[in-house]
Amino acid sequence: MRPSQLPAWRQLPGWCTPAEGDHLYETARALQDGGADMAAEIGTYLGRSAVAIGLGCQEAGIRLYTIDHFRGNPEHETPPSREAAERNIAAFGLASCVTIREGESVKIAETWRYALAMLYIDASHVFQDVINDFAAWWPHLARGGCVLFHDSYHTDWPQVIEAVQTIAMRWPLEEQRPVGSIRGFRKR
Ligand SMILES: C[S@@+](CC[C@H](N)C(=O)[O-])C[C@H]1O[C@@H](n2cnc3c(N)ncnc32)[C@H](O)[C@@H]1O
Repeated sequence: MRPSQLPAWRQLPGWCTPAEGDHLYETARALQDGGADMAAEIGTYLGRSAVAIGLGCQEAGIRLYTIDHFRGNPEHETPPSREAAERNIAAFGLASCVTIREGESVKIAETWRYALAMLYIDASHVFQDVINDFAAWWPHLARGGCVLFHDSYHTDWPQVIEAVQTIAMRWPLEEQRPVGSIRGFRKR
């Protein structure tokens, strides 16, 4: 079921709007196992977007890894708790489909072994961090796989907008329809 239709999902803390949550869910649900049997999210926080993607992954039969160092961003009042994120994910029956990996995104990418069908980036809002996250995970994204960026369209995060604009110009990507603040692309 679409996350926006779940009252419990709407109450989860986080910045992913109902329209964005539904878009992430639909994108994940449409994934097919074409040799890439994983999705990854950079920026778990308390699991709001991870649950949206995870509900779609569960229907597609694909696993989701969600990555966070759990130190939070400078704009967060308190850092997120890994235990709370785990509880939130489990409350939607996603414990066996969604796995949290705690650590630095770029470090984890260095030893990553799975091809990704979907990558969602919603971590640091600093220009170079967005570029670094994307560049580190790009080799793991399967051809035809999708990469989506939160806060990259019509938002108050100019550095994310600029970073994603730079990425769109430099990497072989085919742009998809934006939804809310999310710009999405397919790897050519
Ligand atoms: C904006 S919040 C994510 C919100 C979440 N996607 C949602 O919709 O509920 C960004 C998260 O990224 C994490 N983060 C920032 N930089 C990171 C990095 N380099 N590696 C791993 N996690 C990072 C922060 O700890 C924070 O929890």
